[in-house]
Amino acid sequence: MARKTTRKKAAPNTMWGGRYALGPAEIMEKINASIGFDKKLYAQDIAGSAAHADMLVAQGILTAKDGRAIKQGLARVKDEIEQGKFKFSTKLEDIHFNVEQRLTDLIGPAGGRLHTARSRNDQVALDVRLWTRDAVDRLEGMLRDLQKALIDRAEEYASTIMPGFTHLQTAQPITFGHHLLAYVEMFGRDRSRLRDCRERMNESPLGAAALAGTPHRIDRRHTAKALGFDRPMANSLDAVSDRDYVVEFLGAASLCAVHLSRLAEEIVIWCSAPFRFIALSDAFTTGSSIMPQKRNPDAAELIRGKVGRIVGAFVALCTLLKGLPLTYGKDMQEDKEPLFDAADSIELCVAAMTGMIRDLEANPERMRAVASADYSVATDLADWLVRSVGLPFRQAHHATGALVGKAAAKGVDLDDLSLADMQAVEPRITRDVYKVLTVEASVAARRSYGGTAPANVVRAIRDARKRFLESPPPSSGEVPGRRRGS
Ligand code: ARG
Repeated sequence: MARKTTRKKAAPNTMWGGRYALGPAEIMEKINASIGFDKKLYAQDIAGSAAHADMLVAQGILTAKDGRAIKQGLARVKDEIEQGKFKFSTKLEDIHFNVEQRLTDLIGPAGGRLHTARSRNDQVALDVRLWTRDAVDRLEGMLRDLQKALIDRAEEYASTIMPGFTHLQTAQPITFGHHLLAYVEMFGRDRSRLRDCRERMNESPLGAAALAGTPHRIDRRHTAKALGFDRPMANSLDAVSDRDYVVEFLGAASLCAVHLSRLAEEIVIWCSAPFRFIALSDAFTTGSSIMPQKRNPDAAELIRGKVGRIVGAFVALCTLLKGLPLTYGKDMQEDKEPLFDAADSIELCVAAMTGMIRDLEANPERMRAVASADYSVATDLADWLVRSVGLPFRQAHHATGALVGKAAAKGVDLDDLSLADMQAVEPRITRDVYKVLTVEASVAARRSYGGTAPANVVRAIRDARKRFLESPPPSSGEVPGRRRGS
């Protein structure tokens, strides 16, 4: 015989227990409740309820008196939560029931009228949407700050020469400013993805009710406008079951985390002893408990490490939604923890990266020395043979390879080879060639659009400031539901 589940003789849930004789099993309460994490949505829940109440009054569905009582009661509930005086109850499952119950305790039966023409299904869809919209705006603003830090440092290092790598092998000299600007472009695309998804998500699900709409004569445009949405969602079934915007936000956050991780990895490499390209500040390193000489780039390592949970959240949401029949399923309650965790994590990563970038100090002598080694100007020699001798590039490549081989055999740099040595490989080489064999000449020559020449970098910085910093950043910290200016 199957073991009987222990069952407390609890009273039925006050919110839906009309047809119930007994309350849920302890374990049912535990698996069902989301208040432990969805209390984070209290401000959105209350803003949504206030807008709903206003609309019900405007439509003559609620009296003005009840409307006033509801709004005052909601303000008081918000206060209690913010003062830490609110008693959250697991029995009341989630933030929606917790707020509604307390409202009814405070104002009496009028509290019970708030849920007219609404369901927790459109309510939660609204709350999560408002929360995600704020998260999008916050992240976009923070990425702008990171871009500003990168651009400022790029300006400082516009002509600082460092080795450019492919396969992490010295390839050609570049400037540190040019390298930092590459990330400015990536974070710019991340911001534009966030703006894209914000635009798509900015429709209101409120008024879809449980799934099918409502017989009450509501005005969905009213609540949509009050909450800063562009319009109400067109289909009630879609409105309660859509979490695309969470997936889109997590997708954008994942790619952003990947970008942060690439930069973090470079920072780890650059500040390692064999490289010594940069030094991180005391504020963004930690010491070792045993090795007194150590300065560990923990913040960069953690940024690299946190990608796992952010991409994990994206995968969790896709997996959660895949195969869910329309419309609402309780599975969807599982959207919140990954969303909240990923948003917290990416914000922490961007803030830490911004701090590291602002503080780091480059070591130009060391960067230049490494950039000059390993025949990094070989391509410049080949290009000279194309331009000055008229060799086809493939042949120039071949001749340069032979010259590199010759220099390597002697253990010297290319510009240490005598003209006679050079002419033994290609008789048409002249003394003129030595001019292109310095790292300074190499970077200065790369003036093609988007190239690394310091003159280009200076122009690119001006352009980046215009493209990325001149539009006002979205403001954060406003009342949820207010339209953001971005
Ligand atoms: N706590 C629920 C969630 O997060 C709220 C919606 C519940 N709706 C329902 N019909 N049980 O998804």
